[in-house]
Amino acid sequence: MASTQVAAEGQQAPTKNPTLLAWVAKMAEMTQPDSIVWCDGSEAEKKRLTDQAVKEGILIPLNPEKRPNSYLHRSNPNDVARVEHLTFICTPNKTDAGPTNNWMEPEAAYTKLGNLFTGCMKGRTMYVVPYAMGPIGSPFTKLGVELTDSIYVVLNMRIMARMGKQALDMLGDSDDFNRGLHSTGDVDPDRRYICHFPQDNTIWSFGSGYGGNVLLGKKCLALRIGSYLGREEGWMAEHMLILGVTSPKGETTYVAAAFPSACGKTNFAMMIPPPEYKGWKIETVGDDIAWMHPGKDGRLYAINPEAGYFGVVPGTNYKTNPNAMESIAKDTIFTNVALTADGDVWWEGKDGEVPDELTDWQGRPWKKGSAEKAAHPNSRFTAPMSNNPALSPKANDPTGVPISALIFGGRRSNTVPLVLQAFNWTHGVFLGATMGSETTAAATGKVGVVRRDPMAMLPFCGYHMGDYLQHWLDMQKHIAQLPKIFQVNWFRQDKNGKFMWPGFGENMRVLEWIVNRVHGRVPTQETLLGWVPRADQGLNLNGLDLASDVVAEVTSIKEDEWKSELKSQEVFFEQLGTKAPDALMLQRKLLMARLDH
Ligand code: GDP
Ligand code: PGA
Ligand code: MN
Repeated sequence: MASTQVAAEGQQAPTKNPTLLAWVAKMAEMTQPDSIVWCDGSEAEKKRLTDQAVKEGILIPLNPEKRPNSYLHRSNPNDVARVEHLTFICTPNKTDAGPTNNWMEPEAAYTKLGNLFTGCMKGRTMYVVPYAMGPIGSPFTKLGVELTDSIYVVLNMRIMARMGKQALDMLGDSDDFNRGLHSTGDVDPDRRYICHFPQDNTIWSFGSGYGGNVLLGKKCLALRIGSYLGREEGWMAEHMLILGVTSPKGETTYVAAAFPSACGKTNFAMMIPPPEYKGWKIETVGDDIAWMHPGKDGRLYAINPEAGYFGVVPGTNYKTNPNAMESIAKDTIFTNVALTADGDVWWEGKDGEVPDELTDWQGRPWKKGSAEKAAHPNSRFTAPMSNNPALSPKANDPTGVPISALIFGGRRSNTVPLVLQAFNWTHGVFLGATMGSETTAAATGKVGVVRRDPMAMLPFCGYHMGDYLQHWLDMQKHIAQLPKIFQVNWFRQDKNGKFMWPGFGENMRVLEWIVNRVHGRVPTQETLLGWVPRADQGLNLNGLDLASDVVAEVTSIKEDEWKSELKSQEVFFEQLGTKAPDALMLQRKLLMARLDH
């Protein structure tokens, strides 16, 4: 067995942190790697690991003239999305995990996974990956160390988090770090477990190589463990993008928005406004996760704990998301996209002609017109945020940005109107709590089924959903200047299943209304669901090529649809049982009263 002090190249462990050294030793004793490599995050290390990954066929180099410094990774075809049915919250009491999470008793989970991890790194290298979620030195930053036998994970973590020496230095001798253990195992879908132990600040992930399951800083630490810590420590870890919108007058307003996976966070965070919005600027602070703390001045401050984007590739092009296209023009790891004959990548919805011939995401020949998709619907890019032309200068700010509006949105082909504003914080929490969204390819399972996804956190809340909603309600006592809360839906469809609202950059029109509402500049119309834009001084639709009956349809509120929506919400609240917060049940009654007149 390898000594923990010594790495492959005779490297000394670059730390004297006794807790860290002891834990690495214990995990190595269990997993039995041939060698241990401590990652420093340097360029030299990146080159060495990339070369090795290429040699082992883990990464395919792309044509450097087309896409410099970029690689394609093909995952196991049975391992292409998050596995919610194999994701567990392991709290001592089942009730602490709540009815919306899978639960395992911690000792049982450690034993079950311990058996799988035992000896699983024989003949392999264990990489020790120290990382920071949040800017180095920020009081809000959390540290983690991920032990993994996957070079793909190391190279992705290097993009997604502030990784290596900088994180280890910030840790010093502290024992306050998340202990992450990952092995790709044998990618047998029946032996795949993603287990979270919030009380131990520990994550064990076995048997997958897919991003959301294995880049432990992201959904596992930043959301599941993060939400648990947020409740203990009085802050919020949310599945939200963060953006700054600057008007031609130079006024910058920051908003955060929660949409479920593959429902438009990355696109909204990088949006380029339409030509009518000359002089307006959107800047990205984050595209997936927001950690929000009440500030001394009474405002709510948000940081993006990540350093890169793990984005959905299909549908990305110069029309829908030019900033994403620039972000992935170089230095990017692509997972499960198609390969062109000249060594570039391709996906459904990319600009230009569909190539006659490709190699599909599974490495098989593909011909134009084929019924099968060339890129997997959940194919992903991993790109450094520094590549984003619209990156906010505040993206590395240790104090974060003050949030003026919180937005909840789902993928709904009917029922939910384009935009509405909550009457107040409690009503806004109700809107977030009752969010529904049609399922997407971001998780394994059936696509297109409406499910309740409170605050887009259903798969990411690390404790009881009822307690989580209560935490949202309680936060209003600690924020003197509460952000205003909004609900949006870009995905309403016509009878032929076509999206009626043009979306993408045109979402700026909705965002402008939100900004105007935040600053108290436009009047509204009250409806039974909340405040909506008025027909006269409402949304700016100048230059938008959309028939007025279509506008009416995307903004319509249909009472019969809302009556069935309320029934489906009831099932969710019943699931929470006595933990369904009273204030939300009251909101529900008020809405029912409004609907019945
Ligand atoms: P995320 O996973 O929440 O970050 O979602 P993305 O921004 O990556 O978008 C997921 C999918 O939704 C992609 O295929 C996008 O092209 C599509 N999408 C994003 N925004 C819009 C929009 O405003 N309208 C429509 N119709 N599709 C959108
Ligand atoms: P996202 O999720 O679609 O919200 O970016 C990424 C993941 O699958 O983990
Ligand atoms: Mn995204």
